[in-house]
Amino acid sequence: MSKKLEGKTVLVTGGGSGIGQSICLRMAQDGARVIILDLTQEAAAITAEKVSDLGGEFEVYACDVANSSQVSQVLNEVTNKHSIDILINNAGVAHVGNIENTSEEDLDRLYAVNVKGLYNVTLGVVRFMKSQGAGIIINMASIASSVGLADRFAYSMSKGAVLSMTMSLAKDYLSDGIRCNCISPGRVHTPFVDNFIAKNYPDNGEEMFDKLSKSQPIGRMAKPEEIAGLVAYLCSEEAAFITGSNYPIDGGFITLNS
Ligand SMILES: NC(=O)c1ccc[n+]([C@@H]2O[C@H](COP(=O)([O-])OP(=O)(O)OC[C@H]3O[C@@H](n4cnc5c(N)ncnc54)[C@H](O)[C@@H]3O)[C@@H](O)[C@H]2O)c1
Repeated sequence: MSKKLEGKTVLVTGGGSGIGQSICLRMAQDGARVIILDLTQEAAAITAEKVSDLGGEFEVYACDVANSSQVSQVLNEVTNKHSIDILINNAGVAHVGNIENTSEEDLDRLYAVNVKGLYNVTLGVVRFMKSQGAGIIINMASIASSVGLADRFAYSMSKGAVLSMTMSLAKDYLSDGIRCNCISPGRVHTPFVDNFIAKNYPDNGEEMFDKLSKSQPIGRMAKPEEIAGLVAYLCSEEAAFITGSNYPIDGGFITLNS
């Protein structure tokens, strides 16, 4: 039986760790060629090794999504060799603080990676998808996109933009055969969360982990593979009727906490 994504090429930003890594592995299991972008070759290589263990095809690129000339260079290289059928805008960074604890530099950094990074990569890829007359884009938003999170002023700002950019892209490129959706995870147990706890709660990490787990009514954090499963569905033919939508995957955070 042929695999769902046989013959497709998927580009995943921030593919070296956490959710991005799980997405790369799932896409490879579904038969796609995976283009893994991350800040360093080393970060992306960890995922590449795991994709290789699955017998998957892959390429690795070091690229800061916030740097438009690096992004153009990488996209030129990739599109000289392959089509890009699916783009997963997953790279993202976090920040803790209300507006008073958010410096201008912090705000600019979150904007540069989470908002402009998505712009840089999508701009290059969407032109290419248009010429193909088809494409699928999945953006990694957050529960912060639609409800905001306490003490996450800059992060909520950036993820709100991811949600609205998703709807805008879906409208603008509907007639080009491009579907664009976003996913809004609650807390997912990845290095993103572990680093955040280590940095901000060095003395009471376990307590904080427990608290963050219980902030999902379901009582735990998501596993990265669960997010990858939803991505895989949205990239499949079964989801051909879905565009311009936001999918919370949050253990009941948005609906059951209110
Ligand atoms: N973990 C969560 O609880 C959670 C919840 C909701 C949304 N998200 C979002 O999911 C995405 C992935 O999160 P994660 O938990 O897997 O994080 P992670 O830190 O484990 O992985 C993020 C990856 O992105 C890469 N990256 C960061 N900045 C980059 C840049 N400028 N250019 C290229 N690559 C860059 C990092 O090197 C890393 O490999 C992020 O957009 C995050 O905001 C995470």
